Amino acid sequence: MPRQLFVTTALPYANGHFHIGHIMEYIQADIWVRFQRMQGHQVHFVGADDAHGAPIMIAAEKAGKTPQQFVADIAAGRKPYLDGFHISFDHWSSTDSPENHELAQSIYRELKAQGLITVRPIEQFFDPDKGMFLADRFIKGECPKCAAKDQYGDSCEVCGAVYAPTELKNPYSALSGATPVLKTSDHYFFKLSDPRCLSFLEQWTQDGKLQAGVAKKIKEWFTKDENGEGGLGDWDISRDAPYFGIEIPDAPGKYFYVWLDAPIGYLASLKGYFAAGGPKAKYGEARSFDEFMADPQVEQVHFIGKDITYFHTLFWPAMLQFSGRKLPNQVNVHGFMTVNNGEKMSKSRGTGLDPLKYLSLGMNPEWLRYYIAAKLNANVEDIDFNKDDFMARVNSDLVGKYINIASRAAGFIAKRFGGQLTSNLGDDGRALLQTLQDSRTAVADLYEARELGKVLREIMLLADRVNEYVDANKPWELAKQEGADARLQEVCSVCIEAFRLLSIYLKPVLPALVAQVEAFLQVAPMAFADADRLLGAHVIGEYKHLMQRVDVKLLDALFEPPAPPVVDLPKPGGEDIAPTITLDDFVKVDLRIARIVNAEHVEGSTKLLRLTLDVGEGRTRNVFSGIKEAYRPEDLIGKHTVVVANLAPRKMKFGVSEGMVLAASHADEKGTSGIYVLEPVAGAQPGMRIR
Ligand code: MSP
Ligand code: ZN
Repeated sequence: MPRQLFVTTALPYANGHFHIGHIMEYIQADIWVRFQRMQGHQVHFVGADDAHGAPIMIAAEKAGKTPQQFVADIAAGRKPYLDGFHISFDHWSSTDSPENHELAQSIYRELKAQGLITVRPIEQFFDPDKGMFLADRFIKGECPKCAAKDQYGDSCEVCGAVYAPTELKNPYSALSGATPVLKTSDHYFFKLSDPRCLSFLEQWTQDGKLQAGVAKKIKEWFTKDENGEGGLGDWDISRDAPYFGIEIPDAPGKYFYVWLDAPIGYLASLKGYFAAGGPKAKYGEARSFDEFMADPQVEQVHFIGKDITYFHTLFWPAMLQFSGRKLPNQVNVHGFMTVNNGEKMSKSRGTGLDPLKYLSLGMNPEWLRYYIAAKLNANVEDIDFNKDDFMARVNSDLVGKYINIASRAAGFIAKRFGGQLTSNLGDDGRALLQTLQDSRTAVADLYEARELGKVLREIMLLADRVNEYVDANKPWELAKQEGADARLQEVCSVCIEAFRLLSIYLKPVLPALVAQVEAFLQVAPMAFADADRLLGAHVIGEYKHLMQRVDVKLLDALFEPPAPPVVDLPKPGGEDIAPTITLDDFVKVDLRIARIVNAEHVEGSTKLLRLTLDVGEGRTRNVFSGIKEAYRPEDLIGKHTVVVANLAPRKMKFGVSEGMVLAASHADEKGTSGIYVLEPVAGAQPGMRIR
């Protein structure tokens, strides 16, 4: 019986594009999903945007959009990332979907019917200008411990103190700057402190289904200290209008806190997928969403990062349990991804590894899939993207060990044997292939357990064995020997068979590459079960190079800081820049520093001054300049300026002009905005050339 798996990744907030942390989570989950599909299991892999909450509402307002438009615009940008890194979601939705509104309200009603909802007045900071309650992160003020200014309402970034927003000195609203006032309103709570919830969660979180480290952490959250403090409190699930979220039934002006409806979005996305006919088209699924979810055989699997463990291992299972729904079978928690030695990723400053930039540089997405897989295990450990490590794993292992096997053998099979493989294999070759086939279970078990680093190490050890076989048999020498044709065909056939087996094992990590391998081998899409047989006397196609090595220049470009943005400045005058000239054109113009030895009016001219210039030639020059409107002669005498020294002398009504003094003006408004003779910074000497 194939397993039926409902798999999700955390729903990303719809207030920004994906960063490398999101992509890392999707790659981990996608590899697991592809592995399950290759085992013949049925998988529904769904995601969605997490649309609700105050930060998104405020970001939308700043962008001058409705929250709906704002999240739709973010959603529209998801595809290039998901397609680019070969993430095979079956369906993508939004927590603002009709399905989610309906499901969240039903689940709430069911919890209420169980007597697990309670209402209590809460006193909170309120922004009188904005007319809204302020979440901790929207209140700032002076730290009550160290008096640092502009600290957030929950903790101080300077001294690390943790406090309540009401403890801040001189608090102000980060939204309006107004001084917040304390105001009371009714809040709705999910009674997690109810003995039914506590005993359920103590059992559910500690029965061995969660990762050991996660279960241990949760136990701490449960435990009260000697003063009876800590432990599980009731969970505040309501927010007052204005709020972008789902209305609470029978509670006017109250909305669900975003974290209540966010995980329900998993169910809503799957429901939307059923409504769109996806499961029916893919697996002939005849049941409705409700029937499917009522089947105890269906396994619900979540992939999440460590920062949201609390929500997924306490609130979420409790919501499901007491609304009479299926519980998660797995909550797989991963650590955080950092870049180049743990340097903190900043979404706003754009440091770190930008996934779209990675793709736009033409870097192979499967390098990253391979690298991330190589670093991952089943524990909650952070992993670091490191340039040198990346180069080494991709170039030495992926290309050097695996791809190389095909490139060493394929040419001979094509050129010498018309693509024909032989099934006539010697003992050494058979033994090698048997070893590879025997590893199928070990490899599959490691995939199942999400031990991706170990999977790849195991596969690379197998690749080492194959390369040892190649080195021992030297096909390039066999190719030159008389009468060694049969052996050459045999050795190369063993290589191709081995390459095929390794490709099956690597396919969850390298789906696009292995699709090319399947085309080259002329075989149907491969599943894990295909490792139990060999190709035998099969004809393969033409080998085309499968994968490039990483060039360090690409990595350098990837981490180069982005160019500063082009800033629009006011454009008075608005004269267009002249057509481009070459440097050769420019050096034809000999510009020199000149000292204005004398300046005087020109009798009969309203425009011109007569200038006597020292251009460092041991004699003076006579130049007429149209600057009479702008300068009195006595103000110019003794100043330095710039002159075009190799302009052909021009005979004018008042005499010969031996050059041209440089001055700045707008093309059309000389009268109003003026003419400005150029003057070098102090120290320039007559005759110096300007280059
Ligand atoms: N919207 C919530 C999740 C709701 S799930 C019902 C959220 N969104 S998020 O966009 O901040 O994070 C989405 C996922 O990305 C989470 O699993 C989070 O742990 C993960 N990551 C965010 N930064 C990460 C890294 N630097 N590294 C790895 N994963 C990280 O939380
Ligand atoms: Zn402080």
